[in-house]
Amino acid sequence: MQSNLSPKLGDTPDARLHVGIIMDGNGRWATRRGMSRLRGHEAGVEAIRRVVEAAPGQGVGALTLYAFSSDNWRRPKTEVSALMALLRFYLANEVEALVRNGVRLTVIGRRDRIPEGIAHAIARAEAATAAGSALHLRIAIDYSARDAILNAATRAAGIVDLTRERLAELITGEKNLRDVDLIIRTSGEKRLSDFLLWEGAYAELHFTERMWPEFEAQDLAEALGAFHRRERRFGGLQAIAPEEVPSL
Ligand code: IPE
Ligand code: IPE
Ligand code: MG
Repeated sequence: MQSNLSPKLGDTPDARLHVGIIMDGNGRWATRRGMSRLRGHEAGVEAIRRVVEAAPGQGVGALTLYAFSSDNWRRPKTEVSALMALLRFYLANEVEALVRNGVRLTVIGRRDRIPEGIAHAIARAEAATAAGSALHLRIAIDYSARDAILNAATRAAGIVDLTRERLAELITGEKNLRDVDLIIRTSGEKRLSDFLLWEGAYAELHFTERMWPEFEAQDLAEALGAFHRRERRFGGLQAIAPEEVPSL
């Protein structure tokens, strides 16, 4: 069977897999244990650390984590504030470890509605980690895939001969970001909840009952193992690597 990895594996970060994770189930994990939902979110941060550490060794070059959706503003104010405080804490305290591990961090989503302190923490973390090449970690905060597409479409309005590649750049904010190969969602829910709708056009989907705070390096390995056993066809009749998809 042909490998789902690019033949260029190891040459550049772009040639390695792009995995997206919808980190779901923090609240249920905590309430089932008689704890507050906030404790679930705190345990979720530990799971982020585990996965970020394990990802480069499992052939992952880009990892996009869904941390806070634009629809999550609908949650009670207390939970939103707690989540924002936690994100700020993560961004401020993780930079050193990210730099040490060669992780480049970028944050996707709107910046104009989050607290100023977080916006600053994001800018500092992005600048401090800019040279990292072991893993491109993308954290989605106040993110909506449909808004990302809408904003890109607005910016693209005057462009003559707009191509998919150019529109993709406007949507993702990156040149040559690989389409997402695999989207994992924890907690048994089977929906995309407005995550990576453009980038995930041909993504394989992996749903697990595991709650996000329980997610371990081994779970990532299992999801990737299942991914490698699948046959990706991109509309054709034979398994092909994403790089070999002929443009229409
Ligand atoms: C995911 O866990 C984290 C965020 C959406 C911020 P949830 O908070 O959605 O947990 P459940 O789905 O209520 O269990
Ligand atoms: C999606 O989870 C967003 C994040 C994981 C950050 P939700 O828990 O908000 O999604 P729905 O509401 O169940 O679709
Ligand atoms: Mg949820």
